[in-house]
Amino acid sequence: MVKKIAVFVGSLRKESFNRKMARVLTTLAPESLALEIIEIGGLPLYNQDCDDEGKPLAAWTEFRERVKSFDGVLFVTPEYNRSVPGVLKNAIDVGSRPYGQSVWEGKPGAVISVSPGAIGGFGANHHLRQSLVFLNVPAMQQPEVYIGGAAKLFDANGNIPNETTRELLVKFVNAFAVWVAKNSSTNL
Ligand SMILES: Cc1cc2nc3c(=O)[nH]c(=O)nc-3n(C[C@H](O)[C@H](O)[C@H](O)COP(=O)(O)O)c2cc1C
Repeated sequence: MVKKIAVFVGSLRKESFNRKMARVLTTLAPESLALEIIEIGGLPLYNQDCDDEGKPLAAWTEFRERVKSFDGVLFVTPEYNRSVPGVLKNAIDVGSRPYGQSVWEGKPGAVISVSPGAIGGFGANHHLRQSLVFLNVPAMQQPEVYIGGAAKLFDANGNIPNETTRELLVKFVNAFAVWVAKNSSTNL
């Protein structure tokens, strides 16, 4: 059975390297995975009062319902100040509440970070994993993917000509397909 994967991109930039990476992954994924980018830029900032008063914002409810319909989650993110960009952290927070109703619960996940810098967004990648531990998202450990030098990664059509990088990405999505098949709660 094809597993549906929600992809979250931690950048709103028009020419985002991370969005380009998410698109490339969509094309490299095996037939057992259907990757779909879920937009998070329009999500209002999380305010617990709205949930506590029983008046969650419509955009939050729509987002929560949407994420629930997926079998797994993939995060493709830049690093902002050695951590997770606010837009992505906000989406994670929105999905995690009301307390006890987190949409992330038990969904198998994976993380890729992409940066023009040399260390490939390692800080963001691992800060994100810290949240995923708490949210009970089993996050794939290997292969780790921290992509540096992103300014030279893509051609004019958004493709990745470097064969070694493409091979790593194919290995990553294939491993993720196995990970999702093993850890999916929809297997139960
Ligand atoms: C607020 C801000 C903070 C940043 N901090 C980091 C950082 O800590 N590490 C890093 O490698 N790049 C950092 N950058 C540079 C980003 O990696 C770069 O802008 C990258 O292109 C963002 O990803 P995108 O192309 O997907 O938008 C930062 C950029 C911004 C706007």
